Amino acid sequence: MDINILGIESSCDDTSAAVISNGILLSNVTATQSVHEKYGGVVPEMASRAHQQNIIPVVHEAIRQAGIQMSDITAIAFTRGPGLMGSLLVGTSFAKGLALSLNVPLIDVNHLQGHILAHFIQEKDHEFSPPKFPFLCLLVSGGNSQIVLVKSYYEMEIIGQTIDDAAGEAIDKCAKVMGLGYPGGPIIDKLARMGNPKAIQFSQPNIDGYNYSFSGLKTSFLYTLRNLLDENPNFIEENKADIAASIEYSVVAILMKKLKKAAKDYNIKDIAIAGGVSANNGLRNAMFDAQKRYNWNVFIPKFSFTTDNAAMIAISGYYKYLQNDFCDISLPPFSKVQI
Ligand code: KG4
Repeated sequence: MDINILGIESSCDDTSAAVISNGILLSNVTATQSVHEKYGGVVPEMASRAHQQNIIPVVHEAIRQAGIQMSDITAIAFTRGPGLMGSLLVGTSFAKGLALSLNVPLIDVNHLQGHILAHFIQEKDHEFSPPKFPFLCLLVSGGNSQIVLVKSYYEMEIIGQTIDDAAGEAIDKCAKVMGLGYPGGPIIDKLARMGNPKAIQFSQPNIDGYNYSFSGLKTSFLYTLRNLLDENPNFIEENKADIAASIEYSVVAILMKKLKKAAKDYNIKDIAIAGGVSANNGLRNAMFDAQKRYNWNVFIPKFSFTTDNAAMIAISGYYKYLQNDFCDISLPPFSKVQI
């Protein structure tokens, strides 16, 4: 009998549903909320309301595209956390209601583990060569910057993480200072391709072990630009590409330094990246450079699996299903959960 997992993701501002059948992705439908753009960041209350509006059509579309019926669903996997509590409650309550009505088991998924297991999403007629355990995964998003030692589908250990801001948050804040739109990450990425990464130097943190810090970089960015603006009030307007390339260069250098240290110390060659910032071209290029230089096997997710999506939740649910690892209907979501 087929194992059809319906995945539901609603941790932030993307409402997403996906169907994975026997480990193969059949559909992955996402409604992105544009309502937050004019506020320069996600407004939690609005995100919850938009999830309420989007969740039923998104789930129906995922089922339709998968070519199955609701009655064919074997189990429902949902994002339990971390994320915005109001957003998580919408997906969690929906998943519970549907599981009860279909009389199928529920599977809770950690959003961060989902990002990592996105490397195991198998698509029909696509080449599939996932990383081999144990591997290292640099998980970089708007809320997280971690180096994770991935021992199996089920066992992951954070060996380093940010002690203050996340990489994506730092990039978004710098973009905001420059008067660019939200989220700033993709705009900085685009501008950076046309700029000189060595044009402006920002201070680099000096943190122990495999941990990260990005708050100092944010401050250095702010003070450096303030001084340059004192000399030339049009500095940002006239040097957008160079500023973007320089801040991206600094963020990527900080991320790669600790990742290289971890790869060397743990003697691991299979190195992956995951999360929203893994869409960044500067980071992807740095990974390819390291692949050549250190003989790494580099794993970079397909663009649509870097940002929040339900395919990663469904695949995580699939592996938990194989272990009979189900959750109780009374389980609450958590805004903060560790891997
Ligand atoms: O994983 P994600 O979609 O959401 C969570 O934070 O959970 O990551 C969003 C972050 C934002 O900070 C966004 O600016 C950043 O990923 N991002 C990028 C790029 N695309 C998204 N940062 C740099 N370059 C990109 N191309």
